[in-house]
Order: sequence, then C-alpha cells, then structure tokens
Amino acid sequence: MKSVLVTGGTGYIGSHTVIQLIEAGFEVVIIDNLSNSKEVVLDRVESITGVRPIFYPYDIRNFDALRELFDQYDFESVIHFAGLKAVGESTEIPLKYYDNNVSGTVTLCEAMAEAGCKNIVFSSSATVYGDPASVPILENFPTSTTNPYGSSKLMVENILQDLQASDPEWTVFLLRYFNPIGAHKSGTIGEDPRDIPNNLLPYVTQVAVGKLEQLAIFGDDYPTKDGTGVRDYIHVEDLASAHVKAAQQASNFKGTNIYNLGTGRGYSVLDIVKTFEEVTGQSVNYKISERRPGDIAECWADPSLVAKELGWKAHRELSEMLEDAWRWQSNNPNGYDS
Ligand code: NAD
Ligand code: UD1
Repeated sequence: MKSVLVTGGTGYIGSHTVIQLIEAGFEVVIIDNLSNSKEVVLDRVESITGVRPIFYPYDIRNFDALRELFDQYDFESVIHFAGLKAVGESTEIPLKYYDNNVSGTVTLCEAMAEAGCKNIVFSSSATVYGDPASVPILENFPTSTTNPYGSSKLMVENILQDLQASDPEWTVFLLRYFNPIGAHKSGTIGEDPRDIPNNLLPYVTQVAVGKLEQLAIFGDDYPTKDGTGVRDYIHVEDLASAHVKAAQQASNFKGTNIYNLGTGRGYSVLDIVKTFEEVTGQSVNYKISERRPGDIAECWADPSLVAKELGWKAHRELSEMLEDAWRWQSNNPNGYDS
C-alpha cells in the first residue's frame, strides 16, 4: 500500500482529498495543527470511507516532529495543503503568513529531503496571476501578487522550483486552484469558515440558511456581461481528484509541473445567486455594494495543459456544485459545531 502524507488534511480541500485517497487505496497520514479545522472531521471521513486516517496534531514548522514521522512511515509523496488563506488577514499579520506558509514549507521540505521523500504536490492559487491581461489564463502568463497571502504562495512556488532545479530527484506539482466550492455528496463534510466568510459561496449559503442577513455583491460596474465579477468555480471533489492523480502518477513525472485547476468556464456573482436560487429553491437576500479593494473583473482558467499531461478534467456542473454546497450548509447550519 502506498503511503502519503497530507498536511492540512482536516481542512476543507484536504478532507475531501483524504477521502478520495483512501478510496483509491492509499494509506493516509494527516498532520494538521487544527488552527482552521476540527478533529471531528476524522469521524466524518471514517463514516464515509470505513477507514480512520492516521492523524497527528503537528505543525509543519516543527522539524523534530516531522523527522520522527518520516522515520516511522515510508511516504511516497506529500500533498501539502497546510497554510493560512485569508487575504484580508494576511495584510494585517503578514509575518504570521510568511512564517506559516513560507517557513513552514521550507521546514517540511528539509524533513522530506532528509528522509529521501522527494515528491510534493503544493496548493497554489490563481491569485499568483494578479490581474491577468486576458482570459482564459494559461500557466505561462506572468505572475504578480497584491497581498501577503498571494506573495506567500508565489514565494513557495519559487522555492520549490529552485529546490527541484538543485536536485533532479524532486518531482514538484504546483497546482493553481481557481475557486473551489461545493462539498461531499454525503453532506457531512464541507467548508466551515471560522468567522464571517470572506468568499462568495459560504456567504451565499449562510444567508440562505438564515445565519447572515444579506449578501453584499461587491460592484456591478465591472466590464463583464452583467457588471459583477466573473470567476471559475470548481467543485472541491473535482479538485481533490487532481491530487489523487498526481499522487498516483508522480513516478512518471519529472521536474516542476505547473497546472491550472479550473473548469475553463466563468460565472458572474449574479449567475451564482440566480443558479443557487433555482437549484435549491431558497431565496438569497442581496444588495449591490462598493467594489472590494483588490478584486479583479474576471478570472478563469485554460485547463487544457493538465488534461493533456495528467489526464485530469473537472466534470461537475455549477448546479451540482451549488446543490452540494447547500446540502452541507442546510444539514450543518453551524458547520462542524452543528
Ligand atoms: P483550510 O484552512 O480549510 O485548510 C488548511 C488546513 O491547514 C487547516 O486545517 C489548518 O488547520 C491547517 N494548517 C494551517 N497552518 C498549519 C501549520 N502550520 N501546520 C499544520 N497545519 C496547518 O483551507 P483550504 O481551503 O482547504 O485550503 C487548502 C490549501 O489550498 C491552502 O494552502 C490554501 O491556501 C490553498 N488554496 C485554497 C483556496 C480556496 O479557495 N479554498 C484557493 C487557492 C488555494
Ligand atoms: C479570493 C481571494 C484570492 C483567493 C481566492 C480563493 C481576495 C481579494 N482574493 O478570490 O486571493 O485565491 O479567494 O480562495 O480575497 N463577492 C461578493 N460578495 C462577497 C464575497 C465575494 O460579491 O461577500 C464576489 C467577489 O467580488 C468576486 C466573487 O464574488 O467577484 C468571488 O469572490 P471570492 O469567493 O472572495 O473569491 P476571489 O475574489 O476570486
């Protein structure tokens, strides 16, 4: 049985990936410091798969703990989700973001190198494209960032590329996620933001469930079809399956492999609200408000490279993403505390 270490494995994307890794026959070991997730996720994963993933409440910055773990297990790959991800917060406490996301990854790679485990799959973001000159976005577009969160992602991308260039035994996947939404079909795991959500989908579902009063749509004067921002929303289950493919095929890859993980379709904020209302029968109270500083008009992927090289494609439609997000939210109005 192939063993894989999943950092941040109790988080939103990590937990969905862990389920698919178990279903694909991997032995999964999770480390997560629970700074943005809860241990109860492990119970939910176990009830879905019949297997309880091995879990250690470790921080990726703790080299000694990592060394012990790499001594104990023979990991073939590391899937590295652990990180802080709130853009606004990153502008207030940038050092914490650089320490956690950048120093944490350096420490993780040191432990990996020492143990001779040299396959890493890293969670990057479409945020590294900054404000793209055109859409759809290709992997070779220029990169730039506007906030410490984005900078931390780009720095880690550069560090991993330098590491790979210094030692060809490394295989690096830099997976640039577009906008992950949705939840597992069971409705028992999903996104559970700590505070008031920053991202659109959890905001919409929390308004629909009555936890929040009104959605503010940030601007209706963008040069888009209806004036609201356009994004490439991707089902978290589709996103998870790309990681499983990368882990399965890592030995066939060399070098650094940079892929966009998106659907190749853009939807506006109003498309999301209207489609959500249609598929769930819930109404969403909203108002148009000011643009959010730092937002861009449109952002969607050209996902053809990853289809060609990794054989991965997103399959799920927007209606399914929204139905699944709603099942999770309505079954768990207060997330994992419900
Ligand atoms: P999440 O917060 O739900 O999961 C991240 C997990 O990492 C959490 O469980 C947290 O407790 C853990 N963690 C954080 N710092 C840690 C540390 N130092 N040591 C150990 N564990 C630590 O977030 P997510 O949405 O699942 O995102 C996963 C990854 O994907 C993140 O790196 C994020 O930046 C990246 N990403 C997310 C999105 C998105 O929209 N969700 C988009 C692009 C990229
Ligand atoms: C945000 C982050 C980006 C990160 C991405 C995925 C910012 C500035 N950017 O991008 O770095 O990689 O999440 O995690 O935070 N919207 C509303 N009302 C809301 C929330 C959002 O109208 O309450 C709109 C936004 O203006 C945008 C769209 O919905 O047009 C999607 O927003 P969001 O879910 O926050 O994702 P991004 O802006 O793409």
